[in-house]
Amino acid sequence: MLETKNQHTLSNYKLGLDFALEQDQKDVLSSYRNQFHIPKDKDGSDCIYMTGNSLGLQPKQTKAYINRELEDWANLGVEGHFKAKNPWLHYHESLGEHMAKIVGAKPIEVVVMNTLTANLHFMMVSFYQPTKTRYKILIEADAFPSDKYAVESQLRHHGFNDKEGLVLWKACQDSELANYDDLEAILETQGNEIALILIGAVNYYTGQYFDLKYITQLGHKHGCMVGFDCAHGAGNVALNLHESGADFAAWCTYKYLNAGPGSIAGCFVHERHAHNKNLNRFTGWWSHNKETRFKMRDAFDQLPGAEGWQLSNPPILSMAAIKASLEIFNQVGIEKLTQKSKKLTGYFEFLLKQLGEDTIRIITPNNPEERGCQLSIAVKNANKSLHNKLTEVGAISDWREPNVIRCAPVPLYNSFQDVYHLVERLKIILNNQ
Ligand SMILES: Cc1ncc(COP(=O)(O)O)c(C=O)c1O
Repeated sequence: MLETKNQHTLSNYKLGLDFALEQDQKDVLSSYRNQFHIPKDKDGSDCIYMTGNSLGLQPKQTKAYINRELEDWANLGVEGHFKAKNPWLHYHESLGEHMAKIVGAKPIEVVVMNTLTANLHFMMVSFYQPTKTRYKILIEADAFPSDKYAVESQLRHHGFNDKEGLVLWKACQDSELANYDDLEAILETQGNEIALILIGAVNYYTGQYFDLKYITQLGHKHGCMVGFDCAHGAGNVALNLHESGADFAAWCTYKYLNAGPGSIAGCFVHERHAHNKNLNRFTGWWSHNKETRFKMRDAFDQLPGAEGWQLSNPPILSMAAIKASLEIFNQVGIEKLTQKSKKLTGYFEFLLKQLGEDTIRIITPNNPEERGCQLSIAVKNANKSLHNKLTEVGAISDWREPNVIRCAPVPLYNSFQDVYHLVERLKIILNNQ
């Protein structure tokens, strides 16, 4: 059984706006807020933007980074591949290095390519190798729908029944959270039939951050491959992907990584697979050895590491937005970010609890080690009109049926005052219902 990690105390926080102001003054990351465009309310003031878990805000430098590539394209045409300020041929390499730091991986283990669901499929081509007896895929019961659709289609693609082949790790009866004892029990009984475990590192609905290392070790003990969807983890928590031992992971860059809507994704393949040429995979010219790629007629020569899973030459304009954002992450570092994140989300939890536990129930774990910055709040008897009212008063949150508001105070651009004002506005709406 997994030991419960350290709990935290809410007694460090105080009520009142003065406390929020004081915390913002002490906050060593407070200046980073000015590096982002904050959407405006009707009166021109900053909105309270709490949906970095859905679409992160635009860094002010993004436009210049994209314009740089547009200009190089205008002035250099095809020569930009070699002569652009950031030559396009190697553009993705520095992104991979920066990204590796954010997700706690080695540079050889990370590549920026494609989109998230596409990457999950490419990873499953390699790491879901079913046999007649070991073919099932285990996911969380409330996995993000795209992941469920993806694994169901993989099962069908390999000729299996998608209902029979899908094993669901369900939440406990009395809570929305998944429990490791249940996972152990599933693996004890069906472990030898499960080929792949694919889990959302931070669950999109509950905000529960799983112990990646523990799940990986458990899965490997039972002979399963283990991968993670880190859409809600990358840029939010210290994922330590290398250390976790996971076989693969994939994530998008438009949430906490602030790289813009539909921007291309990240992908991790553990170092131990870096030189394995026998792994099944889909390939293209960008998975071929860089030295001989342009000779064109050579027999295929596998590029080592995560880069070897690329297919196509990458989209530079999308990468420019990623580059702009990752440079901010690189300055701050994931440690400082998560330190602030824990304080900010702890403060949010403290204020929410003042609203009365018969009205508000926080679904997300109360242990800071088991969550990122998002809190998922079930509001008694609420419907979507609550979310609409919050939007009306300039507080942008995210609604999930039947009665859950998800809010993510993002440490790079949200302040303690944001959190204070959000809860005040929520309180007024709830009192007037
Ligand atoms: C956890 C999770 N997985 C997968 C996806 C799908 O991402 P994409 O549309 O980039 O493939 C999302 C999108 O929000 C997500 O939150």
